[in-house]
Amino acid sequence: MELGERSYPIIIGVGALARVRDFVPPGVAKVAVVTQKNIPHRPDLGELDSRIFTVPDGEDAKSMSVAAELAEGIAEFGLSRSDLVVAVGGGVVTDLAGFVASVYFRGIRYLNVATTLLAQVDAAIGGKTGVNLSAGKNLVGSFWQPSAVICDVSTLSTLNPREYRSGLGEMAKYEFLGSGRLDTEDLESAVARCAAIKADYVAVDEREGGRRALLNYGHTMGHAVEALGLAGRSERLYHGEAVAIGLVFAAHLAHTLGRIGNKELNAHYEVVERMGLPSRLPAGLDVEDTFSFLERDKKAMGSMTFVLGSGAVDGLEVVRGVGRDDVRRAWQEMREADAR
Ligand SMILES: NC(=O)c1ccc[n+]([C@@H]2O[C@H](COP(=O)([O-])OP(=O)(O)OC[C@H]3O[C@@H](n4cnc5c(N)ncnc54)[C@H](O)[C@@H]3O)[C@@H](O)[C@H]2O)c1
Repeated sequence: MELGERSYPIIIGVGALARVRDFVPPGVAKVAVVTQKNIPHRPDLGELDSRIFTVPDGEDAKSMSVAAELAEGIAEFGLSRSDLVVAVGGGVVTDLAGFVASVYFRGIRYLNVATTLLAQVDAAIGGKTGVNLSAGKNLVGSFWQPSAVICDVSTLSTLNPREYRSGLGEMAKYEFLGSGRLDTEDLESAVARCAAIKADYVAVDEREGGRRALLNYGHTMGHAVEALGLAGRSERLYHGEAVAIGLVFAAHLAHTLGRIGNKELNAHYEVVERMGLPSRLPAGLDVEDTFSFLERDKKAMGSMTFVLGSGAVDGLEVVRGVGRDDVRRAWQEMREADAR
């Protein structure tokens, strides 16, 4: 990850977990390892004085109260300004531990050991940390880059299959960001290819003023169907499954707006279905239900922002001012395709 003096290595491969000690920055004496109870992987930290902090499972762990409890714990352990937090887990652990590291002593170093596919290809890289508020996801957070990111693909073998598949949803996104076909690669190379693309986007636009926003491809409608599922209004979807549906929806939206043709539209179905991900809108869901999620920003009523494909050589761009009727038309077209 090239970010001037804040650059760091992303280590990808079988056995990388055993090398965590090599990437502990100089001057560290104590290490707070933040993880969850069901994650059966522990880094070897050699002679360093370490303590394990177990945080709750699930999105609810990304909260101000869990962050405060964790900060109290590491203070009681005696972590100093020159010490280290090591996050061992998926995006929930890396977002939470990274956030606490960014505010403890006004910012200490942390290292991510990513143990889900989603974290290895996305969440653990790029320095976005944060917790949720009841008003919404990731509303409190910081940009705080880790000292290193370790992605040992062998740790993924203990993931439950649906969790693994959810990671494939983020991976599918990279096929539209120039990765080329990923499922013909061995897993190590495929993860490396995605991580490299993420790192490239972050390097040119760390704070998401522009290009980094393209990494949100598929996420606009993806977040809406995910949130509606969580609210019990339709089937419950994992994040990457929702992103897969969001990718296909974005293709229909671009198609109905005349930005892409049938070939590009079909390519979305091909990628998503080849990865074994859902490509149909959840049954029973009405497009009108999605607007409250798509128009989160109250000033954006009736005018939404999507990342959409175009005929242009480099494919995607951020498109503002998408209207409700545009979304309704695309929804209708996707429903008709679902029925075929
Ligand atoms: N910061 C970013 O740039 C960024 C990007 C994308 C997503 N995210 C965040 O990531 C989070 C989702 O992350 P996730 O999909 O990794 O889910 P997660 O962190 O909730 O992990 C999923 C489940 O798998 C378990 N687990 C993790 N590794 C395991 C392993 N190797 N073996 C067995 N079980 C294991 C966890 O305990 C958890 O129950 C969301 O909160 C999202 O907002 C952040």
